[in-house]
Amino acid sequence: MVPVKRPEEFRSHQWYGSGVSSGLRSFSHRARTRQLGYLPEEHLGKPVIAILNTWSDINPCHVHLRDRAQAVKRGVWQAGGFPLEFPVSTLSETFQKPTPMLYRNLLAMETEELLRSYPVDGAVLMGGCDKSTPALLMGAASVDLPAVFVPAGPMLPGHWRNEVLGSGTDMWKYWDDKRAGLIGDCEMSELESGLARSPGHCMTMGTASTLTAAAEALGVTVPGASSIPAVDSGHDRMAAAAGLRIVELVRGDRKLSDILTEEAFADAVTTVLGLGGSTNAVIHLIAMAGRAGVSLTLDDFDRIARTVPVLANVRPGGGPYLMEDFHFAGGLPGFLSRITDLLHLDRPTVSYDTLREQLASAQVHDDDVIRTRANPVADEGGVAVLRGNLCPDGAVIKHIAAEPRLLKHTGPAVVFDDYRTMQRTINDPGLGITADSVLVLRGAGPKGGPGMPEYGMLPIPDHLLKQGVRDMVRISDARMSGTSYGTCVLHVAPESYVGGPLALVRTGDTITLDVEARSLRLHVDDAELERRGARWTPPPERYERGYGALYNEQITQADTGCDFAFLARPGKVQDPYAG
Ligand code: FES
Ligand code: MG
Repeated sequence: MVPVKRPEEFRSHQWYGSGVSSGLRSFSHRARTRQLGYLPEEHLGKPVIAILNTWSDINPCHVHLRDRAQAVKRGVWQAGGFPLEFPVSTLSETFQKPTPMLYRNLLAMETEELLRSYPVDGAVLMGGCDKSTPALLMGAASVDLPAVFVPAGPMLPGHWRNEVLGSGTDMWKYWDDKRAGLIGDCEMSELESGLARSPGHCMTMGTASTLTAAAEALGVTVPGASSIPAVDSGHDRMAAAAGLRIVELVRGDRKLSDILTEEAFADAVTTVLGLGGSTNAVIHLIAMAGRAGVSLTLDDFDRIARTVPVLANVRPGGGPYLMEDFHFAGGLPGFLSRITDLLHLDRPTVSYDTLREQLASAQVHDDDVIRTRANPVADEGGVAVLRGNLCPDGAVIKHIAAEPRLLKHTGPAVVFDDYRTMQRTINDPGLGITADSVLVLRGAGPKGGPGMPEYGMLPIPDHLLKQGVRDMVRISDARMSGTSYGTCVLHVAPESYVGGPLALVRTGDTITLDVEARSLRLHVDDAELERRGARWTPPPERYERGYGALYNEQITQADTGCDFAFLARPGKVQDPYAG
């Protein structure tokens, strides 16, 4: 039996009170709510639900959320709550430069402070484009109110000349085809209209789909929510269900901390790996866990990866399917029903059922989209964690998206000090790049990027593309888009900008990648590295003022989630009504 909170126990009661005797401040809050046009009986004594909406005209992944918030409100009203929509900052992967990763922690901070400072009893968090999912959940976890996440949902599959296109993945592919002279401007302009056909986030198993699936696995969405296409009527119904659910959660006093447990994060990691999901999830889940007070490390990912087969046959890790196929094949509940032995089934979720109860009726309707255990896409999870003298604090590789011949490879380094230099010079034949070279990009980490942009899939030089080379070993302190592919070693920590060993590599040095041994080695002896280190000088600060300066001062390295140190640490925060 769920305990039911009395209205006087709601957090918002401190603002609204009831009756004349509750003081001047409460009188003023009630008067201002009349000013908003609400009758007392519409809100007094009811749970106040903040709907945090990352809608914006500039964000194609969230452009439908302005309407979708109406469905959430419908649910909240039906359940007897009082919904209030709050526009919050939008993180558009496509448009925000240098990268929305620079602003993930800003949205997390906005989420936290907004929920804390207003009369809010529970929150519905609306987002889905890459960083918005972790940002909203990080902020909400730090306040620890009841909360439900409404994933934006994938856009419809892309189409071009009878071919089905995946966002990101096919953009890179056809761009390479154009560079290789296989298609021309006419084809490219048709592709421009075919790649992204509707509102919604990327419909491959990119970062967005990976993170919304992680949110569902954590238990903070309505069951089955994450794969519903953004423009499907089912998405409206899911949003309404989230509105109904959050009111129940407030009444029952089920907070995020009841749901975001160590077991929940272990299951989210299992899910991400079994989906063959984005490497970005490694950073975001570590950061989210940190806010929930759960310790999650790179080694946890590597350990769990060895136990989880990849079952989602979805681009870009598997293929050829897209998120809509995954949805109709059974979605995340169907997928989870295939790995129940690897999950913690008796933990709570926002649905009030345990995961076990939720999955009892889950089914898979297409064994090629969601594979059986006997016929996996890959025997092991999609991400491996590398160690070695080039990455003392770790690096990651999505080895299932790499050409198998490169998973054990030794070659000479060709080093680029920053992205712009790399862009300008990569096609220069004078660099002597061959298919065996190891391309190294530095200056692209959390501080150096800044914001650790998705530069990690370095382009293959034109002359090699024309010879048919489509993959090479690439190493950087950058991230990689979840829709990218190739033998790309990412998240090298510590990054070069703070003097990590990546800063000391020189063109011509030999590097060995050995994924099976989980190792990345620079064949330069320690004494020589020490000599190079002694001569190394830190690059100049990029920001002397503003948010960038705060970011530079507080950002942590990739292996610890790139949170701000002052947001990640535990400690007391004063409630607005205390003292
Ligand atoms: Fe928003 Fe891909 S651009 S999810
Ligand atoms: Mg992306």
